[in-house]
Amino acid sequence: MEKKQPVISTEGLNRIFQNGSEKVYALKNISINVLPGTLTVLRGRSGSGKTTLMNLMGALDKPTTGKVFFNGSEISRLPESKRDELRRTQIGFVFQSVALISQMSAYENVEFALRLSGVPRREWNRRVEAALSTVGLKKRMKHRPAELSGGEQQRVAIARAIAHRPNVVFADEPTGELDTHMALQMMRLFRELVARQGITIVMTTHDPNMMELADHVYTLQDGEVVEERFNDIQPDLFEGVSADG
Ligand SMILES: Nc1ncnc2c1ncn2[C@@H]1O[C@H](COP(=O)(O)OP(=O)(O)O)[C@@H](O)[C@H]1O
Ligand SMILES: [Mg+2]
Repeated sequence: MEKKQPVISTEGLNRIFQNGSEKVYALKNISINVLPGTLTVLRGRSGSGKTTLMNLMGALDKPTTGKVFFNGSEISRLPESKRDELRRTQIGFVFQSVALISQMSAYENVEFALRLSGVPRREWNRRVEAALSTVGLKKRMKHRPAELSGGEQQRVAIARAIAHRPNVVFADEPTGELDTHMALQMMRLFRELVARQGITIVMTTHDPNMMELADHVYTLQDGEVVEERFNDIQPDLFEGVSADG
């Protein structure tokens, strides 16, 4: 794992927000590597800079100084059109507040996202069903969000994030509104996506139980990385757990 080129790396990232006359130093000199085929966690308390860092790595925001590399190319200075294309084709996002469209079924929610990613129309049906099957929701694909549990809605959000087969999925506190059992199920699903589909997942959390299930954990404190840790995850940890059933 150590020898592979990172999917994403950052070099001396600083992000300063101007709040009226006050400067907020949200990130200070962050240099991290996200290795391919890993589940990487950014942990830290509220306000430590997790979301800001994820937004920079996911090309949603630009650093004040420093660089972000995606598969070896610098993306932090690209024009907005290129960054938009990168996000639509190579990246998937899962947010804490699920943000599904309430008038649409699970199927339609995933399909809607797929349209935006430029996948040809003839592939939509297959991809939508495959993504919903991966998260174990194919049988419920006609249901609207209100007819699904919180955990199921979050799984639709994950299906939406993976349907276009991104390189990297960013999940900002995806387990934040789930109970422990649901949260562990989501982590299982993430581990499966990493193991079976080779997706790289970067997620934020402050739950110690979730961190143990990650390959690589960065701890942030006041905008700085204060600890980096690798876990030795046994590949058979989740054997026999199948999403759809
Ligand atoms: N758009 C913004 N404008 C001003 N300050 C911000 C903005 N976004 C984040 N911050 C500040 O940056 C710091 C880090 O925030 P954030 O990345 O959201 O932390 P976390 O996700 O770990 O809770 C906080 O002090 C927050 O108030
Ligand atoms: Mg946050």
